[in-house]
Amino acid sequence: MPPLAFRATVLERRDYGCASEVIFRVGDGFSPLPGQFVHILCGGGGRIIRRPFSVFRHEGGIASVLVREVGGGTAWLRRRRRGDELDILGPLGRGFDLTGGGEHVLLAGGIGVAPLAYLGRRLTERGGKVTLLWGMEKGTEYGSLPESLGEEFDLHIATADGSRGKEGTVLELLSPEMTPGTHLFYACGPRSMLVALTERLSTAGLPSLQVSVEERMACGLGACRGCTVPAVEHPGGYLAACRDGPVFRAEELDWKRMMESI
Ligand SMILES: Cc1cc2nc3c(=O)[nH]c(=O)nc-3n(C[C@H](O)[C@H](O)[C@H](O)COP(=O)(O)OP(=O)(O)OC[C@H]3O[C@@H](n4cnc5c(N)ncnc54)[C@H](O)[C@@H]3O)c2cc1C
Ligand code: FES
Repeated sequence: MPPLAFRATVLERRDYGCASEVIFRVGDGFSPLPGQFVHILCGGGGRIIRRPFSVFRHEGGIASVLVREVGGGTAWLRRRRRGDELDILGPLGRGFDLTGGGEHVLLAGGIGVAPLAYLGRRLTERGGKVTLLWGMEKGTEYGSLPESLGEEFDLHIATADGSRGKEGTVLELLSPEMTPGTHLFYACGPRSMLVALTERLSTAGLPSLQVSVEERMACGLGACRGCTVPAVEHPGGYLAACRDGPVFRAEELDWKRMMESI
């Protein structure tokens, strides 16, 4: 569907440690695929460049984003309250391909859990079996969000400091039964995590993997080329994460060059 430009009224905010879910009203025409994002004007401080946020939830006339505070824009957004207005452009970009059946393994690094939770809900509705693996720095980082997502999904957690779940990265949570022959993989997180996952699955496993990349964005529309990622096709070439992604089949990206620019 073409992106919409609209103003949305904030209905509620739920705080979860370092992040907040900002819930807002949307019109009938707003119909995002999991992995698509909204570009939000995060006011204050003369900020004119929109900030991209994955859709975390969409049901009926209500949608939400899960915002982790890293700078001025995210600080502004996660302090919105009921009745505040948001200036939104979206949904934008290419979402996940949901057509594959069977067992689904979702690997989230940090705030990468936002698009994957929405994806998990859609896959479950379609009868898929979903396992959500989530890596974070420490167990208390996202407040009670793990408990909340644990009610929806078969959720497993890894923490860098070992304070909750397995110690290490989200990759520690992959079990030997989760193979590319039997499972489909979906991942969102820092580039280093995505590179490590492609190495773990090896070239033969790449067809079973879709990734959502977290590149910095400006226009969000494919015009400024500020968000490019190295592509396999047209050697030496690039794809725009905002327009050609942010979701890519792992086979589309040049992982050697992805690794070089970590
Ligand atoms: C497709 C897409 C979906 C996203 N979805 C979400 C989401 O659901 N929830 C969420 O909290 N964040 C999400 N992000 C990241 C979010 O857009 C950035 O954190 C935000 O733009 C930062 O704005 P700021 O003004 O707060 O920080 P700035 O002042 O612009 O930057 C503060 C710090 O954050 C770093 N930073 C900024 N943008 C990014 C980025 N894209 N990736 C990694 N580091 C960055 C900067 O390098 C800097 O160190 C997404 C990014 C993309 C590209
Ligand atoms: S952000 Fe401008 S081309 Fe992607």
